[in-house]
Amino acid sequence: MNGTKKEQEEAIHYYDKISTIYDFISNWYYKKPRKYAIEKLKLKKDQVVLNLPCGTGVNFKYFQHYLKNSGLILGIDLSDGMLKQAEQKIDKNDWTNIDLQLENAIMVDQKWVNEYSNGKRIEKFDAVFCDLGLSGLPDWKNIIDNMISILKPGGSIVILDWYVEKPGLLGKFIKWIGKGEVKRPLWQYLQSKIFDFELKWFGVFNGVFVASGVKAPK
Ligand SMILES: C[S@@+](CC[C@H](N)C(=O)[O-])C[C@H]1O[C@@H](n2cnc3c(N)ncnc32)[C@H](O)[C@@H]1O
Repeated sequence: MNGTKKEQEEAIHYYDKISTIYDFISNWYYKKPRKYAIEKLKLKKDQVVLNLPCGTGVNFKYFQHYLKNSGLILGIDLSDGMLKQAEQKIDKNDWTNIDLQLENAIMVDQKWVNEYSNGKRIEKFDAVFCDLGLSGLPDWKNIIDNMISILKPGGSIVILDWYVEKPGLLGKFIKWIGKGEVKRPLWQYLQSKIFDFELKWFGVFNGVFVASGVKAPK
């Protein structure tokens, strides 16, 4: 996606449409990297985590393994259809520590967090998880910068996404099925911005990466 308004609208419309079957594909292909990625967040009880974009909430059960319904999971996505699926998971499991917000990822900066947290006393996040979002989002560098800016010093940031040096047919397939580009230097950009950087590869084609690290401690 190059990031025109039309392309963004088309992508959201697409995700609205496939929201009811999304988990089937996602659970099958991304289970391993997801579990590993969430481990790298190093979540502890009562912590505050941001999942951007949260989609249908496939990560929630993994977050809860560490949070045990404490703290806060803030899930943000721009597709109403995807968020409805996430809401169903919350209701079904009686989770009380999850808040969902319909918002454009590019809007989520410190100013947004301050307005959102009015009364909730959240200033910064302990951890931020961005999975399968940046490859399809316009302004991805700004989004990474914003995510780091709203992290606490020493907080963890993890990106799970695609990177293929020579995309070929695989690149076309991922663009078709996920509306994302597989050759954006996402992990390279993250590496230049954080400490304790780690990178691990997954998937049949070794094209799925989990990049993790921490914001500089004060
Ligand atoms: C491939 S899905 C990933 C969802 C989830 N993170 C996961 O791993 O299952 C991409 C998600 O990005 C969302 N999205 C696309 N553009 C967005 C934007 N500008 N702001 C927020 N979410 C967006 C879509 O609605 C969709 O839920």
